[in-house]
Amino acid sequence: MKQKILILDFGGQYNQLIARRVREQRVYCELHPHDMPLDEIRRFDPIGIVFTGGPGSVYLPGAPKVDPGLFELGVPILGICYGCQLMAQLLGGRVTAAQDDSAREYGKTPTAFDPACALFRGLPEESVTWMSHGDYMAEVPPGFRLAAHSAACPTAAICDEARRFYGVQFHPEVEHTERGRDMLRNFLYGVCGAVGDWTMADYKAQAIGAIRAKVGGGKALLALSGGVDSSVAAALLSEAIGDQLTCVFVDHGLMRKNEGDEVEAAFAHRELNFVRVDAGERFLSRLRGVEEPERKRKIIGEEFVRVFEEVAHEIGAVDYLVQGTIYPDVIESGQGEAAVIKSHHNVGGLPDTVDFRAILEPLRLLFKDEVRQLGRELGLPAALIERQPFPGPGLAIRVIGEVTREKLDMLREADAIFREEMARAGCAADQYFAALTNMRSVGVMGDGRSYDYAVALRSVQTRDFMTANFSRLPWELLDRVSVRIVNEVRGVNRVLYDVTSKPPATVEYE
Ligand code: XMP
Repeated sequence: MKQKILILDFGGQYNQLIARRVREQRVYCELHPHDMPLDEIRRFDPIGIVFTGGPGSVYLPGAPKVDPGLFELGVPILGICYGCQLMAQLLGGRVTAAQDDSAREYGKTPTAFDPACALFRGLPEESVTWMSHGDYMAEVPPGFRLAAHSAACPTAAICDEARRFYGVQFHPEVEHTERGRDMLRNFLYGVCGAVGDWTMADYKAQAIGAIRAKVGGGKALLALSGGVDSSVAAALLSEAIGDQLTCVFVDHGLMRKNEGDEVEAAFAHRELNFVRVDAGERFLSRLRGVEEPERKRKIIGEEFVRVFEEVAHEIGAVDYLVQGTIYPDVIESGQGEAAVIKSHHNVGGLPDTVDFRAILEPLRLLFKDEVRQLGRELGLPAALIERQPFPGPGLAIRVIGEVTREKLDMLREADAIFREEMARAGCAADQYFAALTNMRSVGVMGDGRSYDYAVALRSVQTRDFMTANFSRLPWELLDRVSVRIVNEVRGVNRVLYDVTSKPPATVEYE
């Protein structure tokens, strides 16, 4: 039985980061809504609980709360920002709005710590933290003492070592908090007694066991896109259930140049049943006239499942549909208090009536880098594992507005040129692609006027795809790509480079 940390979600913007940071320290954790019932929490059996930050104020009506029974479980708790204030308030302290701007803090803040507090043991007495709060604790609850302060805030951290409750006003999960990782490590290992038992080899063995137990002698069908997630899912499933698995590659006609053939070449010779379905026409006709991004996503997700259902009927008696959904998809598609940003293909796009006994999502609780690690554990080739992500809805969400065959062809060519030149220049970026904007503009080609489309180039650096910075690509490279696209791709007369980071933009355009 693995040790588990429970993270209760109050809707803060850094909540996923907390989960990442905990798992980085080889401790398994899950993020759940703040109102998770007490008996479920007991069954979850965490070695420690973290309350996240959140946008609310604990003293306002309707503010998200927890069951106070939580404090009687004898489990250590770390409250972060809103989570800290909530704990303070529920345990008899007093939280108020900062009276004037001097007590409100935002950004990097020099902070002094009491190294006698278990959270700060072994760390320097002063370092920078990342603050982002408008409320503060006017009165510390009984049993607690102050453990850190900044110039504006005397209550930057509190602790009750006897009950093992800790609260910080700042965000230890954010890189800007210089010793944040060490503080979390102190909480996990020093306070909760973590032993660091979360490894991919264990996960693999456990996942294979769970899949075998669930599927038994049944048949499973896997949606193989050739991307990292579905490839790792395929390798995991084939190791678990061998030829009870059929991998179906639906070529929705929204792939990049030559990609369909490449996927087929990579998988056709493996020890699994491989079926390729050419469904380009079908997807295009469903997308005709549709401009709204969420509708496009929903249509594509739905059509995908319909195609699988048909293949499943042909194969006969298929019980399970396997999907390569990963944890950020689950969270970004809206869970608990977090806002829905996009309906990710594998989650929000799924129709209600699916003609399978159940859906298997063996990667549902893994972050991207963990999926890659699992892929290595399963012996997949590095080229496949390191591949940059490609969204399920494919080029349909990179053609802004209505999708047509002509636009897709233009985009495929422009994108191939960009990728070719990036490779030739030896440029490293975590994800890069071309998108076809829905904008046409006037140009001059030879002696004539043109009125054609603009292609946008996007390239980002990111660790986890939750936040991203645009890549500082060399001008010479952009120049070469631009000249080639305008010369070689009919219908395009302008090339733009996207210099927006995420947030406020997203990586994809739709
Ligand atoms: P956004 O646009 O949300 O993208 O900043 C973050 C990362 O997710 C990829 N992405 C998807 N992947 N199905 C997927 O499997 C989808 O529907 C989907 N939408 C976006 C995107 O390419 C980027 O890497």
